[in-house]
Amino acid sequence: MSGIRFHVNGKEHIVPQSFHVTTSLNEYLRESAGLKGTKVMCKEVDGWQISTIEGIGSQRKGYHPIQERIAKFNGTQCGYCTPGMVMNMYGLLHQKPNITAQEVEDNFDGNICRCTGYRSILDAMKSFAGNANIPDSKAIDIEDLNKNLCSKTGEACTGKCGQGLDLRLNDAHWHRPTSLDQIGEVMKDNKHKKIRLVFGNTSTGIYKDDGPYDVYIDLHGVKELYSYEVNGKSVRLGAATTLTQVIERLKANHHKPGFKYFSDMSKHLKVVANVMVRNGGCIAGNLMIKYWHKEFPSDVFLMLECAGAKVEIFSSTSGKKETSSMMDFLNKVDMTDRVLTAVILPCLADNVVYRSFKITPRWQNAHAYVNAAFNIPIEGLVIKGRPSVVLGGISADTVHATKTEDFLANKTLSPAVLKEAYSTLRDELVPTENPQEASPKYRKDLASGLLYKVLLSLQPSKSSQVRSGVEDLHRPTSSGLQTYQEMTHDFPIHKGLPKKEAAVQAAGEAVFVNDMPKFQNELYAVFVLADVASATIESIDASEALKLPGVTHFFSAKDIIGENNYMYGGSLFSLTPHELKRAIITELSSGEYCHPIVFFISETQAMATTAAKLVKVTYSKIRTPVLSVEESLAKDMEFKDARITEVVGSPDEAWKTVDQKVEGTIKMGSQYHFYMETQVSLAVPSEDSIDVYSSTQNLDACQDAAAQIIGKPLNFINITVPRLGGGFGGKVFEPAMLTAASSLAAYLSDQPVRLNVDLASCIRIFGKRQPFVAKYKAGFTQEGDVKVVDVEILADSGYTDHGAMFTHDCINYMDMGYFVPNWNIVGKVMQTNKKSMMPTRAPGTVPGALIIESIMENVAKTLNKHPVFVKEINLYRKGQKDIMGHTLNNCTIREVWRRLKDIAEVEGRLRQVEAYNQENKWKKRAITMTTSKHHMHHYGPGLGATVTIYGRDGSVAVTQGGVEMGQGLYTKVAQGVAHVLGVPWEIIKVKPMQGISSPNSMISGGSIASESAMQAAIGAAQILKERMQPIREKFPDADWKELCQRSEANKLDLSARFFNRHELGDPLANYHTYCAGVIETEVDILTGESQIGRVDIMADYGESLNPVIDIGQTEGAFIMGVGCFLTEDTKFDKETGRILTDGTWNYKPPTTKDIPIDWRIHLLPDSPNPFGIRSSKASGEPAIALATGALLANKQALEAARKDLFGVRDFIPVDAPFTPEKAQQSVGLDESVFAV
Ligand SMILES: Cc1cc2nc3c(=O)[nH]c(=O)nc-3n(C[C@H](O)[C@H](O)[C@H](O)COP(=O)(O)OP(=O)(O)OC[C@H]3O[C@@H](n4cnc5c(N)ncnc54)[C@H](O)[C@@H]3O)c2cc1C
Ligand code: FES
Repeated sequence: MSGIRFHVNGKEHIVPQSFHVTTSLNEYLRESAGLKGTKVMCKEVDGWQISTIEGIGSQRKGYHPIQERIAKFNGTQCGYCTPGMVMNMYGLLHQKPNITAQEVEDNFDGNICRCTGYRSILDAMKSFAGNANIPDSKAIDIEDLNKNLCSKTGEACTGKCGQGLDLRLNDAHWHRPTSLDQIGEVMKDNKHKKIRLVFGNTSTGIYKDDGPYDVYIDLHGVKELYSYEVNGKSVRLGAATTLTQVIERLKANHHKPGFKYFSDMSKHLKVVANVMVRNGGCIAGNLMIKYWHKEFPSDVFLMLECAGAKVEIFSSTSGKKETSSMMDFLNKVDMTDRVLTAVILPCLADNVVYRSFKITPRWQNAHAYVNAAFNIPIEGLVIKGRPSVVLGGISADTVHATKTEDFLANKTLSPAVLKEAYSTLRDELVPTENPQEASPKYRKDLASGLLYKVLLSLQPSKSSQVRSGVEDLHRPTSSGLQTYQEMTHDFPIHKGLPKKEAAVQAAGEAVFVNDMPKFQNELYAVFVLADVASATIESIDASEALKLPGVTHFFSAKDIIGENNYMYGGSLFSLTPHELKRAIITELSSGEYCHPIVFFISETQAMATTAAKLVKVTYSKIRTPVLSVEESLAKDMEFKDARITEVVGSPDEAWKTVDQKVEGTIKMGSQYHFYMETQVSLAVPSEDSIDVYSSTQNLDACQDAAAQIIGKPLNFINITVPRLGGGFGGKVFEPAMLTAASSLAAYLSDQPVRLNVDLASCIRIFGKRQPFVAKYKAGFTQEGDVKVVDVEILADSGYTDHGAMFTHDCINYMDMGYFVPNWNIVGKVMQTNKKSMMPTRAPGTVPGALIIESIMENVAKTLNKHPVFVKEINLYRKGQKDIMGHTLNNCTIREVWRRLKDIAEVEGRLRQVEAYNQENKWKKRAITMTTSKHHMHHYGPGLGATVTIYGRDGSVAVTQGGVEMGQGLYTKVAQGVAHVLGVPWEIIKVKPMQGISSPNSMISGGSIASESAMQAAIGAAQILKERMQPIREKFPDADWKELCQRSEANKLDLSARFFNRHELGDPLANYHTYCAGVIETEVDILTGESQIGRVDIMADYGESLNPVIDIGQTEGAFIMGVGCFLTEDTKFDKETGRILTDGTWNYKPPTTKDIPIDWRIHLLPDSPNPFGIRSSKASGEPAIALATGALLANKQALEAARKDLFGVRDFIPVDAPFTPEKAQQSVGLDESVFAV
């Protein structure tokens, strides 16, 4: 066959045989079809009809209703995830046009958005549901759904392709047989070759290094694998049944006698993987992952084995099928020349109780810490025969808890039997130690907790208190409410307008750096990374790599012409000499795991990646890495010059006056930024310079590093930042490394070079949020008035003392909303062998908030008061001086707190929580309140804007020195210009930042770039307005277009630039943003899982420049905080220092069901800010601090459980992220409390 044929948006594509067999559909669509809107991945496509984001709607053809809806609901910020969200909904509506709100929520489990906090996206999508309580809801009609698609070719693929295929692609043979016999033939013909059967190919998302293979057999065309038979005794599902179809088929039969257990199974399957994987991946694929990787905690295998299911297997040697038990399939059958053809689910006896569980670090799309299934034949309290207890996540060898099964066989479930059952289970389980997974102790505790849940459910009479142990946490459909005052003066400033680029983002037309078309002769670069954390590099042997076809160059530090340094502070930061030196490429020694040591360029990305893998690096003096501040302290590795000591008031005196003292330790881990657009730089040699396209928050630093690595002046580098797919501080410093490396490579090769770093490498290479350990002592009065705090912080700075600036910030922000008159703080900046830490959204606020909020809660605990009341006493009053010495004359925190407490009905709900906790032993709830006080100040030189009016038609273009990364900067700039010129904002276009038009700018960060850019644009627009004033006076009735034409005719310069200079101490940009939050959570004490029930936030953004955008920033920040404090755990290999959590399989940012079930955001009304631009306040960072409440409320709930269970009233230590593992382990459960 000449190639693979398929249709994309109705157009035929033929992929020639020269393509590499592992080329993904995503790569093809982006690189060959030029359809850059698609940012997800799937594979193998012959005969398919494919719809991409471009096919369903666009600027020119008109937008699709889903694109319009997500734009209108402000469901797009940076826009990088948006096409994926739109296409997910598109697929969903095709499956089910009359969708419900709950179904919408259930189907967004596989899409991550780091910007929005999901609420706005869900609202947009739920607005298509008939039963959603969302304003402007409207179901879609079928014509609109298929708008823009050719009805003949644009149909959704059925996945059942009847045609065969036999294709030799570049390096492998690809077959698509249409029958089992044909598979048998292919297998026989390739007996000694490595064969891979392929269905959804989703397993490559987990086991990335399986292969390569010589022969691929695609199973989509084999009809025998799609069978579905139901009879009174069994249900037979073909091997190619997708997990989504399995769920549907289980649901279709669960009401039939003997198949009641399907109900539990289908519920469990809905939390296996995510909707994309369940739609594409089949049941056999899942079982075969378990077969090849015994440690894989397969939920599917577990449930089938527990039900006594069987598999049907086809042997290519005999040409026959045989059935096998699940255990024989797993351990005895040789599958190398066999194919799974079906799964047979039995009918279970009426007396069987079947339950299954999956306990995960995050609500959805996470593999299990431990999963379990129980099949117990029981009458009354007597077990009839041998039960089945199947466990996953314990060890590769553990499937059944056989001793527990033996013990329980034919027993009557008396208290004594129950007790012995738990200890039998504990004794027989030996979980394997695996640094990537939860601790063996937790996994063991989970197993006994789950056994308890099941045995408890079998008790006919149980006290109402313990009943809460049986049920899982219940999550109803979520909802949101937003209230704000929209000021009408200065229109359209203060108006809640949607983002200017929302629609193009939703249509996938927004251009990110990596969407830029391929240049002629373009090369691709890949770094080789140090794979030990601390060693000396003896030699680097690239000879094998250089033999590969298309690998053109290899660069090491020796090739650098100018300076090997990317850490240019410019005039932005006062960095120490040490901080100012960060090698782009390490030469001799490596102190950080994964620092680049060399890099390759090649004609294809794939070949450059392969080349990088072939490099042999020899190390000497390999040292055990130092990975914690405690080890660093023990080894005396403090950066002593960077130590910060801060004394406020008279702490020594204050200690003499306090009534009580409390002490404690707070720990916080790291957080990866998780910008959805990974880091990228493209350098293109041009006439007399290099054109660079970078994804950076800090254009100037990139320009500096690029110029200096090749020893050229800054005007040699023309740099453009089109937009960012999220930044969150992670693109402030690190992109300069890529810009420098790609510019060097482009300069030396005289060809364009693209350096696009994949997710795993981004997580490995780049610095993250600074972890710390803080020891504190607080003194307070009998009422809870905190008078003095001593804190010693050990801040993990990574390999360089770069972290000193975040330690500084942490200290400056440690007071949050609370007035503590006396402080004694020591910040020790500790060296470790991790990557140097980098700014991450609110780098000071996040640790500062955790410290002070924890102290307040501990004080409350000591006084036996609720934290809400202790915190309230300590809130700042107007006129008090804060920790930085600012007098807070305009402090609104008490107002924000009072209103919020009222609106959220805190006092009444505190009583409800109390009553709930008394009623429920195994589920506990808690409410807390938190504050944020965020000092906004402008730094760096300032930021300029040029406003240009085109005289012929009056349209307006703005170039300015701020980077759009989702925060709505362009929108606010356009609002400002529209207001000054008095024109509709639609006629204004804001252009990407360029080094030529916007030189010498501040970085875009610290929340305030939008405000500053808007101010600069207003200044420039003002100049133009004044310039045009004489013409306006002459022609008072001229409309805008005529005015512009006359101005041009009068030879006016219709372009003006204004530089918004940042003066230190400038009152216009020196203020505090105040917020408060009420957070209610619920915890399952037996498992440690939690959910956020309700959150109310009130924020003082002055007269918000754009309330809709500011609410989006608030929600996004809060959810990023939830990730930081609850789910995003970073783990390292103790021997090498390798970061183990380097992908979505094991690093868990929040997804749609981690957001509050009931989420209400209010902006403080009637609160103009005298020091903000147009009376506003900035919104990007402050709300992240409020999410400390999620951790602290969970902790309170667990403390309530400890009080119930053990009669203790203690304060569980604060340790973020407070994962389900840490939460459950903090209770200290043992079987003695498992009473029924
Ligand atoms: C992000 C993510 C999260 C996940 N989370 C979970 C989870 O929480 N719990 C869980 O249990 N699973 C989970 N999975 C696994 C998921 O269920 C499987 O990846 C999916 O079911 C595999 O189906 P597939 O068609 O894509 O298989 P493929 O990837 O195509 O194949 C997988 C393996 O099965 C072999 N194979 C496929 N069909 C046959 C056949 N008929 N006969 C013999 N061999 C065959 C292939 O050769 C290959 O070795 C997750 C996967 C991903 C990617
Ligand atoms: S808008 Fe979703 S990741 Fe940016």
